[in-house]
Amino acid sequence: MATSTEPILILGGGLMGLAVAHQLARRGQAVLVLSRRRNEAAGFVAAGMLAPHAEGLSGALLQLGQASLALVPAWVTQIETDSGLSCGLRNCGIVVPFRTPEERDSYPTASWGTSLDRQGLQGEVPGIAATWQAGLLFTQDGQIDNRRQLMRALERACTRLGVQFQEGSEVQKLIKGPSGKLQGVRLVTAEGDALSLTCCQAVLAGGAWSGQLLPELPVFPVKGQMLSLQAPKGALERVVFGPGTYLVPREDGLLVVGATSEPEAGFGEGLTPNGQRSLQEGIGSLLPAASQWPPMERWWGFRPCTPDGGPLLGSSAIPGLWLATGHHRNGVLLAAITAELLCQQINPGSAENPESSEAALRLLNQFRWSRFQQA
Ligand code: GLY
Repeated sequence: MATSTEPILILGGGLMGLAVAHQLARRGQAVLVLSRRRNEAAGFVAAGMLAPHAEGLSGALLQLGQASLALVPAWVTQIETDSGLSCGLRNCGIVVPFRTPEERDSYPTASWGTSLDRQGLQGEVPGIAATWQAGLLFTQDGQIDNRRQLMRALERACTRLGVQFQEGSEVQKLIKGPSGKLQGVRLVTAEGDALSLTCCQAVLAGGAWSGQLLPELPVFPVKGQMLSLQAPKGALERVVFGPGTYLVPREDGLLVVGATSEPEAGFGEGLTPNGQRSLQEGIGSLLPAASQWPPMERWWGFRPCTPDGGPLLGSSAIPGLWLATGHHRNGVLLAAITAELLCQQINPGSAENPESSEAALRLLNQFRWSRFQQA
């Protein structure tokens, strides 16, 4: 690919920023990641489900999720090779439980899964509460240990490929030239110094905070609270995706439990008694034995949401500024396809074959910012 020695700026050091930086660097592009506070990134908060089918996605978002799921194994291999670290990918399948067979059969992605009766459900999720009389098993869905492994591996992969990082830098303004094109950014460094960096291209990957830099962008925060328990090793093999609460068993027995969905909280930080209680109740209603497992950690974060729940990908209204944000509930799943689509947009020669690049373009066209501007 024809690359430039002037770095492309990545505005945001979360999962999307790192994933795009990594793919650009693999293709020989100089990259500088400007990251404000890495530990607030949704990539550290999410449960890491790879679940387009279990989450019941539909339409273009299902297609995007399936396309990303197909990329994940090779993407993870690249990250693991480039970093020397494991990402914790588990092809463990996901079970969605239902109260009745009718509810199961009307689930949007029912045709992609295996139908389970009560006995089959118990076989897949030993100890599941008697409320749940039916289920769907999606063996194609899985999980990745985003919080403890993937984020670290991606950062290491980027560093080894020469990506530069400026941690603690808060980008405050986009600088545009007389023609409206992106010319640079104004930022405050970790030391408190104000400075300007020139650039022709930047990728806005600021998660829930993306709208602070570009207020016209329809991105808002949806707070999620989570917790983890230490389960007996092997107590649960499949992810269980219940309504309102899900259980994600890591290889070593850590059970990640998510998540509240609180759009009304805005950027309100911290745990709340109601939020934590609803998770606790969700655990009891799915897997009563898990209520006795020792608690490990509790945390919260902010999903970047758009009005239709789909991400914002590709060009923006500012020439030179690309978008990789608004992934709402599906950021971990969509990181692989986001990085691929953004690289193809930034450098159209970089697709491995023209057919896949045409298919990618058709997909990306459904997630452009312009879909909101036309309304
Ligand atoms: N994808 C799960 C969540 O956002 O809670």
